[in-house]
Amino acid sequence: MPDRVRIYEVGPRDGLQNEAVAVATDAKLRYIELLVAAGLREIEATSFVSPRAIPQLADADALVPRLPAAQGVRYPVLVPNVRGMERAEAAGAHALAVFTAATDAFTEQNIGMTVAASLEAARPVLRRAGDLGWWRRGYVSTAFGCPYSGAVAPARAVEVALRLLDLGVDEICFGDTIGVGVPGQVAALTGTAVAAGIPLDRIAFHFHDTRGTALANVAAGLDAGIRCFDSSAGGTGGCPYAPGAAGNLATEDLVYFLDASGYDHGVSLDGILAAARFAATTLGKPLTTKVGQAGGWDSATGAPVGRA
Ligand code: COA
Ligand code: ZN
Repeated sequence: MPDRVRIYEVGPRDGLQNEAVAVATDAKLRYIELLVAAGLREIEATSFVSPRAIPQLADADALVPRLPAAQGVRYPVLVPNVRGMERAEAAGAHALAVFTAATDAFTEQNIGMTVAASLEAARPVLRRAGDLGWWRRGYVSTAFGCPYSGAVAPARAVEVALRLLDLGVDEICFGDTIGVGVPGQVAALTGTAVAAGIPLDRIAFHFHDTRGTALANVAAGLDAGIRCFDSSAGGTGGCPYAPGAAGNLATEDLVYFLDASGYDHGVSLDGILAAARFAATTLGKPLTTKVGQAGGWDSATGAPVGRA
């Protein structure tokens, strides 16, 4: 297995969509600049959903044209329907993510439709994005458990993933939206996906750290051959339509873990700590992530590094 891991940053989208504080467009752009400076090359920047559903990201049309131009950086945006695609295109986006879930109960609360209907809504979006040559990701949320209907079988999450792949997505991201998953489930889901013909390099995982299992789940994913993980600098995030969803796995915690485990990912811990502190200050909260508080660790001296 290659030792190169992709870190897919979701702070500006998944992170900010669930924060009570309204963040100004300029502050979002500064956060994104810091993420780019830290070495991140995939940053989910915002979503083109209904501003009534997610008021925190209602400035997507103004934000996307101002994203920092940086060589080799991909800024996917979340798009729920054709209206969102038209907005994303007009704003100059070049990559997108569509979303559905493993359970009807969740999609009905989140986007007011069944999984099947959400796949139909995604179809013309993915077709148009394909015509434009955009990179396309498909989320399968609640892949480890649903806040409204409970346990989810791996086969069900994989069935939805296969439908998204049929519609043209380049990558599937299985989301533990409410942070209930454990390592054995990661292994089982990966095994089921691979057995169904989904290549490992087209699978990503998105963990929320609600119950402290996110990094253990990353370790299980790495063991199973997965090389793409989502995280949020500062550990912000959640989903307003998923009661009990806490923040995303923090990028600083993930970077420390990957560094110390010998994986290559191109992201600087100091740079991420700067972005994480900026996010916390902007949101008016203390930085509560593990590595955000403890700093990294210099194995030559034994001392913590990068603490505020
Ligand atoms: N961008 C902007 N406005 C949009 C839109 C989009 N992509 N899609 C729909 N709207 C507007 C419509 O114009 C309409 O506005 P109006 O009432 O002023 O006429 C209103 O939203 C309702 O449109 P409708 O097509 O009936 O959609 P809906 O109410 O069934 O909502 C979604 C469906 C998907 C648009 C909405 O649930 C949504 O945006 N959800 C996003 C949830 C989310 O992002 N969750 C977190 C990510 S996992
Ligand atoms: Zn999430």
